[in-house]
Amino acid sequence: MNPTTLDPARFRLGVVDKSRRFLPESLTPLAHTSVYAVLSPAVRLRYNQLFASAYHEQFIYLESMLAGPILPALMRHYAGDPLAERLRIFQAEERIHSHWFHLLHRASEPALYADNRHVFVSSPRLAQRIFDGCARRPAAFPFVLWLAMIIEERTLPASREIIREADSLEPHYVALHRLHAADEAGHVSCDAELIRRLWPALSPAGRLLNRWLFVTLLREFFQAPKRAGWAVVLQLAREHPEITPLLPRLRREINALGSRADYLGTLYSRAREPRTFALADRFRELRRLEQDLLPAPAGHTL
Ligand SMILES: [Fe+2]
Ligand SMILES: [Fe+2]
Repeated sequence: MNPTTLDPARFRLGVVDKSRRFLPESLTPLAHTSVYAVLSPAVRLRYNQLFASAYHEQFIYLESMLAGPILPALMRHYAGDPLAERLRIFQAEERIHSHWFHLLHRASEPALYADNRHVFVSSPRLAQRIFDGCARRPAAFPFVLWLAMIIEERTLPASREIIREADSLEPHYVALHRLHAADEAGHVSCDAELIRRLWPALSPAGRLLNRWLFVTLLREFFQAPKRAGWAVVLQLAREHPEITPLLPRLRREINALGSRADYLGTLYSRAREPRTFALADRFRELRRLEQDLLPAPAGHTL
């Protein structure tokens, strides 16, 4: 992280080319199902574009939790420590990222994002209240930093895939992911530093509670597509009513992704997020993290 990154004008928006995909297909859940092959090229393209917005909404959600309650609480906790200044830059960068993603959404989907930041991502009120409460006390609930770290580290292999396929993708999307990933590498270092300081200070019961919250919330909200992934398909059906007869099959195959280890491994695995898993290995209660993020065998509970 360095202060020269704090210039929102680094990302310049022109006319979005809607004849191109916004993301590599490998990053979109439906491309991992067999029903995808049945869809017409126009429907697949539109799915890809809509899913890109849902994907970014997850980032905007996490960025606003970081810039909102989490980082300010940590800046107070570490007041006077050089880490506080790094956290201030981290916060400023997240605000800029959310601004960029939203700018791109408004340019790409003006009808959907006229006066709101979230179209596809929503969380149940109770889960949100629990998360809000924990996010205001990150020293007691550092699972919020594990969540941030693994999701932020995931942006790095994803952006490498985006850059590899850059020639066939919409150029503003490629440019934004390139800028985003450059900052996220620094955020992952910051998350790791915070976890190294805060996790050992927890009581054994505190560690178990935090581990449970981390794994449960990650699986529920940031892993296989549930609400947001389905909301994208419903929007697709509004725009392409010819897929309506396929909706039951689409639902079935999207739900089935949640129990497919091959698909889940494309999201979180040692190979994709090596720094998060290496840090987890340092703590006995998190050594089984990779298995915990795969479908539970019968009789196994988190
Ligand atoms: Fe970000
Ligand atoms: Fe970040």
